[in-house]
This record gives sequence, C-alpha cells and structure tokens, in this order.
Amino acid sequence: MAKNTLTITDNRTGKQYELPIENDTIRAGDLRQIKVSADDFGMMTYDPAFTNTASCKSKITFIDGDRGILRYRGYPIEELAEHSNYLETAYLVVKGELPDRKRLQMWEHNVKVHTMVHENIKKFMEGFRYDAHPMGMLVGTIGALSTFYPDAANIHDLESRRLQTRRLIGKLPTLAAFAYRQSRGLPYIYPDNDLSYTGNFLSMLFRMTELKYKPNPVLERALDLLFILHADHEQNCSTNAMRSVGSSQVDPYSATAAAVAALYGPLHGGANEAVVRMLTEIGSVDRIPELIKKVKAGERRLMGFGHRVYKNYDPRAKILKKAAYEVFEVTGANPLIEIALELERIALQDDYFVSRKLYPNVDFYSGIIYQAMGFPTAMFPVLFAIPRTSGWMSQWAEMVRDEEQKIARPRQVYIGEGPRSYIPIEKRPVPTMREEAVAEEI
Ligand code: ACO
Repeated sequence: MAKNTLTITDNRTGKQYELPIENDTIRAGDLRQIKVSADDFGMMTYDPAFTNTASCKSKITFIDGDRGILRYRGYPIEELAEHSNYLETAYLVVKGELPDRKRLQMWEHNVKVHTMVHENIKKFMEGFRYDAHPMGMLVGTIGALSTFYPDAANIHDLESRRLQTRRLIGKLPTLAAFAYRQSRGLPYIYPDNDLSYTGNFLSMLFRMTELKYKPNPVLERALDLLFILHADHEQNCSTNAMRSVGSSQVDPYSATAAAVAALYGPLHGGANEAVVRMLTEIGSVDRIPELIKKVKAGERRLMGFGHRVYKNYDPRAKILKKAAYEVFEVTGANPLIEIALELERIALQDDYFVSRKLYPNVDFYSGIIYQAMGFPTAMFPVLFAIPRTSGWMSQWAEMVRDEEQKIARPRQVYIGEGPRSYIPIEKRPVPTMREEAVAEEI
C-alpha cells in the first residue's frame, strides 16, 4: 500500500526527509529539520497572501472552488437558501447543527433581546461627520462596544463567548441602521422586536412617520436570502483578520472591528459597488463589446468576475441571479440587469474568460439587487458585515477552542541590509539623486 508521506531530497546536501501527510497537507514546521548546517534556522515556505497555506482546521464551511460547491456545516447553500432563514442559518453556523423548534425559538429570543444599544453609543455615532462612510462608523462603534462590555475579555469562558455572540448578531443591524440614518440626517429608529431579524432591520432603516413599519415580505425575504448567502465563506480576508487579531486573546468586539475593517477594502466587501459602477459606465448593451475588448487587452478587469477559490460559477451568484427578478417584481427592474445578463452571456462564450475559468461571483448580482432595494452604494459592504458576523464569531470561537492555535505570527524572508554601524548625522554621505528618489518611493 502507498505510504501517506512525502519524501523530499535536499539537493544542497543530498539528504532525504520523509514528512507525514495528513488531510493532503504537510506541516510547515516539519520542514524546519531541513538544514544545511546545524546552526541553520531550517527550511520555511514563502507564501505571500497565504494562497496555498492552511492556517487552521475548521468544521464550519466547505468550499470546492472547482466544482462550485459551498456548504455550511455540510448543508448545501442551495438548500439553506431555499428552506432556511438567516437566524436559523446563523444558529447552524455558530453551533454546528440545525436547531429544533424549541432551540430556534430560544435563539431568536436571545438574539432579539440584544438588539438595543446603550444610549451612549447613539451619542458616539452622532459625533461622526455628516458625510462619514457607514463602514467607517461601523468599525468605530463595534470597537467601542468592547468598552461597554468588559466581561467580553473572558474569552475562555463558554457562557461569555455565547453572550457576546448573541449580542453582536443582535446589535449589528441596529448599528448599521443608525449609521445609515446618520448619513441621511434622519432620526434613529429603535428596534421593533415584533418583526423578523431582517424586517426589523428594514424598519430601523426606512421607517418614517408611520407608527408601525410593515416590511414588504418579498424584500424582507430577499434581504434574508442575501444574509444567508453571506453568513460565512471560510478563511477569507476578514475572517483571517478576525482569527489573527483574536489570537492575541483580545475581546471579540475588538477582533470584529478588525474584521469589519478588512471587509471595508475594495478588494473584499467593496467589489459589488465596483460592479454597479462598471455597469452604469457601460450604460447600454451595445457598448459591452467595447468593454470586453479593453478587458482582453488587460486595460481593466471585469468586476464581479473571477474568484480566488471558485474556478466555476459561484453558487451564490446563481441563486442571486434568480432572486433579482423577484425583487424587481416589487421595485421595478433595475436597468443594469439587462447589461449584466448580456455581459455574462458574451463573457461566458469568450475564450479569454473560459480558458481562465472566470465566472460571475456573488458580487456580480448582489449590488444590482441592493440598488433596486434603494440602498446607497456606501451601504453595500455594511449589508455584507451584518450576516458575516455569525461567521466571524463562529470562526473566532473555533479558534479560541483549538488547542493547536497560538498567537498568529508569520515569519518573513528578510532581504534588507546586513549589519551596519550607526553614523552620526554630520558624517552621513550626501545621497545621490537616485538614492533620494528611492527614498521618496518608499
Ligand atoms: N477580469 C479580467 N481578467 C481577469 C479577472 C477579471 N475580473 N479576474 C482574473 N482575470 C485574469 C487575470 O488577468 C489573469 O490572467 P493572466 O493569467 O493572463 O495573467 C487570470 O485571470 C488569473 O487572475 P488572478 O488575478 O491571478 O486571480 P486571483 O485569484 O489572484 O484574483 C480576483 C481573484 C481578485 C477575485 C480577480 O478575479 C478579480 O480581480 N476579480 C474582479 C474583482 C471582483 O469581482 N472581486 C470580488 C471577489 S468575490 C468577493 O470578494 C466576495
């Protein structure tokens, strides 16, 4: 029988090493025995952006990018999208199993009792400038929550972890809605716990003078679906931030603020906004070939296409493409959908995209739906952060419980100067123009 090991020959020394393989993986630490001399530090791997490095073992989310498969705790995303709702999915992501009726009721109750925020948070938010980006406000206020809940520092206490998880999932829609109302100069609306999780969020966003807000059930369900699809996505940039910052054993509010900050970036939570901008710029179907030409010439990227992990149709994009039409029944069609559909049709027949396995990702259709629902583009990443909180908290708790995890601290390959002695300022040589230019580049 074939051995589950990897044999490496170091051609510098002629020595051979046999490394165990577990889950199709070798341990990077096993490479350290590969040395040229006894005082050699030992072999490391160099993997900028961790493109081929597993940082943890996880039981939460499975992705098979080549086949376009996404599962939370083993359940296919398509089945959850069809049958579940966000709070139930959040329970699944956080706790590992689907709840029975009693547990689901209890979970809903436990999350809803945490939808209110301390009045000082309101004052804190009022301190932001009128044009503050809602994502920046979210980073600040989630970080500030750690000062309201000092008990959250007990990260090794199971009950404390559970409480902070419920608090964060409960409060995120409130903070997000307050940020939106602040940017519009509108008074904040307090939570209405008679409504569903997403119904209450819509109420806090859009309620005006009416005594009771009645969310449109189609839009409420569409937002809930978007929340299900965004609940977790294994070790992406923001989840990695959550785990990495959390590994210092800081409280989960501070770690979540870091995760939201990571999501704020245009390469992560901001791509759906870029898609809407691109489609608006194209303007009409007849101008698509012009854009495709530029993309193929390497002058620009087709936003909402391609993915680091998916080399097939992103299963979330497939679900959203269908959901868009249900939303348009209520809101009226977003004219950008025509352009998006034709763009997709042309791209998927073109060898440039086919040969590179570039398919629509989740952002290709989500922005069009958010826009049709009346959200300003600055809110798009906020709408991503709300449901991802369940994923972040679940990943964080898994990291805290994992005995193999330590403070995250990568190595580097040092390529700078060798040792040199300090030169007093009056004795330093005058730099050449080239040296000055290099210093300025930095
Ligand atoms: N348009 C045109 N060409 C593309 C695109 C694109 N959207 N994406 C990748 N390519 C090309 C690259 O130019 C490269 O071609 P080459 O081999 O001739 O050099 C090849 O496909 C491989 O691309 P990489 O950049 O190596 O792929 P990587 O995995 O690093 O990038 C990424 C993935 C960042 C998502 C990329 O596809 C991209 O920029 N897409 C557009 C932005 C986007 O939609 N981001 C949202 C991602 S989903 C999310 O974060 C929720």
